[in-house]
Amino acid sequence: MRARPLFRLIPPSAIAIAPTAIAIALGLLALAFPAVPARAEEQPITLKDAPGLSEIAANCQGCHSLDYVRMNAPFIAPDVWKAEITKMRVAYGAPIDDDDTAKIVAYLAANYGKAE
Ligand code: HEC
Repeated sequence: MRARPLFRLIPPSAIAIAPTAIAIALGLLALAFPAVPARAEEQPITLKDAPGLSEIAANCQGCHSLDYVRMNAPFIAPDVWKAEITKMRVAYGAPIDDDDTAKIVAYLAANYGKAE
């Protein structure tokens, strides 16, 4: 008896569905191991909600997170915040106008000033 060629062992119908099966398997793999989701561009605001917060949100997140305010609050007395924001503007070049600066300083002094 003549040996059958190897490819005859795989029915043509199986060959026809193979690409579909591979596609489904890859799809399942992708579902099982999703890529790390891209981080949302905007950060949730984590500071107290009070007048001035929107100016902070608009002006203070370009270079670092708002956590800087909370992390440093224990060390910054209310009247030192003005110097801190001046440092952000002058030393680090933050483009914050005088109007927003006044609101930001008032907000920080009221909500994040070190208790004396
Ligand atoms: C132009 C970039 C820039 C902007 C905008 C900016 N900062 Fe900063 N900030 C810095 C840099 C640079 C540092 C110090 C380096 C570091 O630790 O990352 C810093 C540090 C701080 C610190 C830590 C204490 C210190 O003096 O190092 C606080 C608090 C802070 N920033 C608050 C603010 C607030 C509030 C605003 C908005 C009014 C603001 N920053 C906007 C660049 C910026």
